Amino acid sequence: MSRIVVHDLAKRYGDAVVLERVNLVIEPGEFCAVVGASGCGKSTFLRILLSQEHASSGVVVFDGRPLPREPQPERGIVFQRYSVFPHLTALQNLLLAADLAGSRLIGRLTGRARARAREEALALLDRVGLGAARDLYPASLSGGMQQRLAIAQALLGRPKLMLMDEPFGALDPGVRVEMHGLLAEIWKEHGMTVLMVTHDIAEAFKLGTRVLVFDKVRHDPQFPAAYGATITYDLRLDRAQRRTPPPEPIVAAGQALPSPALPTTA
Ligand SMILES: Nc1ncnc2c1ncn2[C@@H]1O[C@H](COP(=O)(O)OP(=O)(O)O)[C@@H](O)[C@H]1O
Ligand SMILES: [Mg+2]
Repeated sequence: MSRIVVHDLAKRYGDAVVLERVNLVIEPGEFCAVVGASGCGKSTFLRILLSQEHASSGVVVFDGRPLPREPQPERGIVFQRYSVFPHLTALQNLLLAADLAGSRLIGRLTGRARARAREEALALLDRVGLGAARDLYPASLSGGMQQRLAIAQALLGRPKLMLMDEPFGALDPGVRVEMHGLLAEIWKEHGMTVLMVTHDIAEAFKLGTRVLVFDKVRHDPQFPAAYGATITYDLRLDRAQRRTPPPEPIVAAGQALPSPALPTTA
């Protein structure tokens, strides 16, 4: 069970509070779209779930256990811009990722394990539509193709949790729509939990089964960093709603709704 439970999480950098009182339960297979103002701590929250960063206080439970201190392949991430090794082809980049994921204890993959990793990498490249581009170098890949490669790389670890930080933010609208289709299919096929940060409200409502809004509820005009953001709206979307994204801005949609994620003892 890859349930995620976040209990009273806070993150501070020095005196600056970035996140506070974050409470959240995500069931396996949910697709949470995360929105919020720039700088309010969305990426920080994702980095904490990846174990690239650690909470200052509070607890994250993943799969029934406290979150491991180190990143693992079962928690994959796709960033807005993919950092590939420019001197490796698409296939070689994937194989390197497999090497890094599979070799933590035993060194480079060898023999049968390597052959299996290659088969898996080729199948994944096909799956994300990069079969014909497997021998191309990153410089020859479009932005959309690079994000396809990034998704394939994250999938290689068979993640139970896929973290995505504005994965399509740098893409042209047409390409973005193609990527939505691909991601929706892959999410259904793999049944993984997805947490995707986006600044595109329509994208959040189109893809998510749930939309989480991060915002500050407390403000100190003398010292803006005194208080952090928390989850102010937690909107669960049923399938019918997902097919027809609401045209109104999210604040209007959220204000009429109760906010179960807000702490009750503010
Ligand atoms: N490593 C760090 N050290 C100090 N401050 C940081 C660090 N990472 C992020 N921050 C600060 O935390 C705040 C939230 O950043 P971030 O999570 O990137 O926001 P968002 O993704 O919502 O735009 C910002 O004010 C940022 O400057
Ligand atoms: Mg960010």
